[in-house]
Amino acid sequence: MNIGIIDSGVGGLTVLFDIIKKYPCFNYYYIGDSKNCPYGEKSNEEINFLSHKIVDYLIKNKNIDILIIACNSISSTSYEKLKLDYPNLIIIETVKPTAKYVENIDNIKKIGVIATSATINSLAYQKSLNNYEIISKACPEFVKIVEDGNISSNEEKIIFDKLSFLKNDNIDALILGCTHFPLLIPTIKKIYNGIIITSSMAMIKELEKYIKVKNDKLNLEIYTTGDENTFKRQLKLMFNKDLDVKKIDL
Ligand code: DGL
Repeated sequence: MNIGIIDSGVGGLTVLFDIIKKYPCFNYYYIGDSKNCPYGEKSNEEINFLSHKIVDYLIKNKNIDILIIACNSISSTSYEKLKLDYPNLIIIETVKPTAKYVENIDNIKKIGVIATSATINSLAYQKSLNNYEIISKACPEFVKIVEDGNISSNEEKIIFDKLSFLKNDNIDALILGCTHFPLLIPTIKKIYNGIIITSSMAMIKELEKYIKVKNDKLNLEIYTTGDENTFKRQLKLMFNKDLDVKKIDL
C-alpha cells in the first residue's frame, strides 16, 4: 500500500513515526511544505490551494492509495474540498477521528483545544464535539518554536503564558489540535498533568480500517519544499533520526 502523509513542515512527522511504529511495512511518502510553513496563519483559500498541489504531486508521482492529512490546519479548512476533488482516494484527516477517540474516554465533559489560528477559527473541533464544553486557544507561536527546534527558557515562558488558562479552567482533557505540538509535550506537562490527546492516537485507529495487505518491508521517502539540510537537521534534533530528505518543487 502506498501512503502519502502531508503537513506544512515537521509536525506531521509526529504522526508518521507513530504510524510506522504500528505499521512498519508500507510505502510511506511524507511531504513537509516547509517553504510555506506556517499554514495556520494563512487564509482557507491559500491552505486549500497549497494542499491540493501536494496531493496532486503524490497522486501523479507516488500513486498513493491513502492520504493522511497530518495537519489540523489542512484538515479543518480543506478536507471537504479534497474529498470532493479526489473521490477515489482514501483520506484520513485529524478532526473527526480525534472527536471519536474522545467520545470513547469516560468522564470527559470539558475539553481544552490548542491549535493554530486556522484550526481554531474554523470551529472544527466545536462542531465535531458539540456535546462537550470546549475551551479553545490559538497558539500559532508554538509552531515556530517547534520548527526552530529550540525550547530555551524564553520559549518556555511563551508556552507557559499561553497555557496559563489551563490552571483555572479545570479541563478533563487537552487536545493537541496541531501536529507540531506533541513535540512540546515535555514542556506542556510541566503545567498540565491531565489527559493529552494527539492527532496520531486517533488517526492510527482510523487507519486500521483500511489496512488490507501488508508489504514485507518499509519504504520511507521524505520530501520537503524547503531546504533539505535544514529538514535533515530537524529530523535529527527532534526525532533523533538520520534519514535521507529530498527537496521537491511543487
Ligand atoms: N502541523 C499543522 C497543524 O496540525 C500546521 C502548523 C502550521 O503550519 O501552522 O495544524
